[in-house]
Amino acid sequence: MSAWTGARRRVCLQEVGTRDGLQMESVFVPTAEKIALVDSLSEAGLAKIEVTAFVSPKAIPALRDAEEVMSGISRRHGVVYTALVPNLRGAERAMDCGTDELNLVMSATESHNLANLRMTREQSFAGLAAITERCAAPRFPVNISLSCAFGCPMEGDVPQEGVLDWCRRFVEAGATGVTLCDTTGMAYPPQVDSLAKAFRARWPETELTMHFHDTRGLGFANILAAIDAGVDRFDAALGGLGGCPYAPGASGNVCTETVVHALELMDFDTGVDLDRLLAVSRRLPGLVGHDTPSAIVKAGRRLDLHPMPASVQRGPGAL
Ligand code: COA
Ligand code: ZN
Repeated sequence: MSAWTGARRRVCLQEVGTRDGLQMESVFVPTAEKIALVDSLSEAGLAKIEVTAFVSPKAIPALRDAEEVMSGISRRHGVVYTALVPNLRGAERAMDCGTDELNLVMSATESHNLANLRMTREQSFAGLAAITERCAAPRFPVNISLSCAFGCPMEGDVPQEGVLDWCRRFVEAGATGVTLCDTTGMAYPPQVDSLAKAFRARWPETELTMHFHDTRGLGFANILAAIDAGVDRFDAALGGLGGCPYAPGASGNVCTETVVHALELMDFDTGVDLDRLLAVSRRLPGLVGHDTPSAIVKAGRRLDLHPMPASVQRGPGAL
């Protein structure tokens, strides 16, 4: 089988636009609109939706309505509703309003952890490992998102063994999944290949997600490298919104509709209805107050054709 065809292989897409996307926006999207966005995304067929973040409202004012949003959405059977959690307070808030999975967050580098979470990595780990252990019995899903796993805007390259060691510590504490995050678009395909294969070889049973930002145009190349290395789960943000306000130079995630469009052409099964997704994405500029980077919203699908130019329609030689 060619590496360029998915042969209907399943790739799970996880929408992070209502968290990673909206956290970066200066406008506050009204709570009812956030709920409507999540409900439309559920209808579009995403496997998992990161609904919001239970973080300090001072750190991320745009998501200060996390409880209302998580409590207000309509749950679609089969969709996992997750939320970002930085500490015990966040875990309690998330569980109190019926979140399906905790997406714990810390950074692979000390500088970004201090900037983003105002803790050392060991302080973050102590708190997050305690939450993970508490969730082990009865088993409640806990994913750990490791920011800056492919590079740090303040420290540069991040050694692979160091990243894998944080993964090991969380897996040993009982994490059910790990997301390797390329917070500021520093990942490149051979690096993705190497980290994905090393992770898969060590923890074949742990759910592995890759989270790419398209800051340097490498997002989809990295997805293909990861698929080739056995990864079948990716975060993406509607419209290509996204970015961490505490990571210098951060910009949007890989764009969900662009990824779906490309994977469909390659015959992968994403389970996502692209027409519905595009209809939701077209609502974003009205909510965030600016155009989005979405290539497919701008250009249309590959075979969305245009009428012939009027001059040609009038026939050759026409004035
Ligand atoms: N949810 C709501 N409020 C929280 C909270 C949580 N999870 N954790 C702490 N707080 C509140 C405290 O109650 C306190 O409130 P007060 O000032 O009204 O008393 C305030 O936040 C400060 O608490 P403290 O424990 O000293 O936290 P901090 O100021 O050192 O911030 C974090 C630490 C982790 C809470 C904060 O840095 C944070 O939320 N960061 C997330 C950043 C983010 O989401 N980045 C993008 C995603 S990668
Ligand atoms: Zn991100």
